[in-house]
Amino acid sequence: MKRSAAGEQTLVAVVLNGVRRSARAEPRMLLSDFIRQRLGATGTHVGCEHGVCGACTVRLDGVPVRACLTLALQADGRRIDTIEGLAGPGGMGALQLAFRRHHALQCGFCTPGILMSMSELIERGPRPTEDEVREVLAGHLCRCTGYTPIVRAVLAAAAAMRGDEESADA
Ligand code: FES
Ligand code: FES
Repeated sequence: MKRSAAGEQTLVAVVLNGVRRSARAEPRMLLSDFIRQRLGATGTHVGCEHGVCGACTVRLDGVPVRACLTLALQADGRRIDTIEGLAGPGGMGALQLAFRRHHALQCGFCTPGILMSMSELIERGPRPTEDEVREVLAGHLCRCTGYTPIVRAVLAAAAAMRGDEESADA
C-alpha cells in the first residue's frame, strides 16, 4: 500500500468473511465506515464512534477490535470477520441460536459487536466461565436487554459447541 496525500483514495484489499474484497478509502476513513459503506456489510453497527459502546466490534486477523477506532488503511492485507460471517451455510450459528433461545437481545443494536467478541472468547477456550464472559461483556453497552440473558446465552452456546446439549438448554 502506497502512502497517499490527505483526501487521496487508496485501494484497500481485505479478506472479508473469507472473501477477497477491495475498495478505495481516504486516509482518514474509519474501518467501520469502510465495512459498511464501501463493502456493504451493514451488520456492523456504529454507536458512540469513540470506542465506548462496542457496537462496532469486528475481528481483525481474529482479534476483536473497535472498528470506529481503526482506520480502513490499517486493515489492508488483513482478514476481517463480521457478523455476516458468523452464520454457516445451514443458517444461524450456535451463538446466534443461543441468543435467540435465551432472549439475549431486544432491539439488537449491540448484538453484532457482542457476538464477535464472544466468538473469539469461545475460540480461545471452549469452556469460558461466567466471570470471563462478564469481563468481555464489560466492553459492550446494551441499553435494553440486561446482561444476565446475554451471559446465559454465551455459556449455553459454548456448551452447545462442545456438544454438551444438556448445559446448552439450561
Ligand atoms: Fe465503536 Fe461505539 S461505535 S465503540
Ligand atoms: Fe438493544 Fe442491546 S439489545 S442495545
